Amino acid sequence: MTSAQAPIVGVAAALAGATPARTALSQFTLPNHVALVTGGHRGIGLEMALALAEAGATVYCVDLPKHPDEGWLKVQAFAAQLPSLEGGSKGRLEYVCGDVTDQAGMWKIAEDIAAKEGRLDVCVANAGILRGAECLEYPGEEFKKLIDVNVNGVLFSAQAAGRQMQRFGRKGSIILIASMSGSIANQKQHWVAYNTSKSAVLQMGRSMACELGAKGIRVNTISPGYIYTQMTRDFLDTRPHLMAEWSSQNPIGRLGRPDELRGVVLWLASEASTFCTGSDIIVDGGHRAW
Ligand SMILES: NC(=O)c1ccc[n+]([C@@H]2O[C@H](COP(=O)([O-])OP(=O)(O)OC[C@H]3O[C@@H](n4cnc5c(N)ncnc54)[C@H](O)[C@@H]3O)[C@@H](O)[C@H]2O)c1
Repeated sequence: MTSAQAPIVGVAAALAGATPARTALSQFTLPNHVALVTGGHRGIGLEMALALAEAGATVYCVDLPKHPDEGWLKVQAFAAQLPSLEGGSKGRLEYVCGDVTDQAGMWKIAEDIAAKEGRLDVCVANAGILRGAECLEYPGEEFKKLIDVNVNGVLFSAQAAGRQMQRFGRKGSIILIASMSGSIANQKQHWVAYNTSKSAVLQMGRSMACELGAKGIRVNTISPGYIYTQMTRDFLDTRPHLMAEWSSQNPIGRLGRPDELRGVVLWLASEASTFCTGSDIIVDGGHRAW
């Protein structure tokens, strides 16, 4: 964006004698925006989907179950009761069954959403799986399966959305959910496939950002630390000592909550971050600082 096209906000607005307005906060809203969130049936994906809907977006959650469960429907009903934004825009949650490893299927889902809504602005490629096995024994099929979901699936989701952003001329934001595990190895865990996959997501984000910058489409990654969700619960339930161990590995001294990722996703999805692309935003309670 050249300075001539820049919105008159902040200091420029004050110096131009504009009527005072709280533009710093309104820049985080997503009026009439349309978003696609993969793995949006639960956990981090659902939390981010609700945050986007609260900010005014129509959010399509794509996930494996044929129909959403009671918990998801409750969150959808909650979103439906939220007041409209100033200006009338009202967010909502929709559900679509889909598998991120199916490239043609993902492209079609995004095409249908964009055709129906007339736009697609935000993609959160969040679906992912975690499995562990010792690196010298890791079964090939298991390794391929994890890479298929965590790497291919992220690419197919980002492609699907990016193609529609391009088609409808939207200056969209694509957010890939990586992990601190893409930059560090998790102490005492046998996560060679997961670590490899998340590292690939970090490079995918940078690479796509460089290709898509000229089209006005931004691509960034978020690298959460240990967050308490079904994914980590599955691990912790069978290894209760790990809760204290993982908590002691960051200066804040606990695991994170999914809601602690609401701010960062809104920032990256919205006009509050228009000069940010090709970046990795670390939200790990300081794990990587130690
Ligand atoms: N929980 C953590 O500590 C943590 C930390 C860093 C990064 N992450 C990443 O955040 C993302 C979300 O994790 P979470 O903790 O919410 O996990 P979760 O297991 O609670 O949710 C993952 C969701 O992805 C869906 N999914 C899996 N395979 C899919 C497929 N092929 N197609 C469509 N959907 C599929 C699942 O059905 C599920 O709803 C993952 O990419 C994960 O690697 C999680």
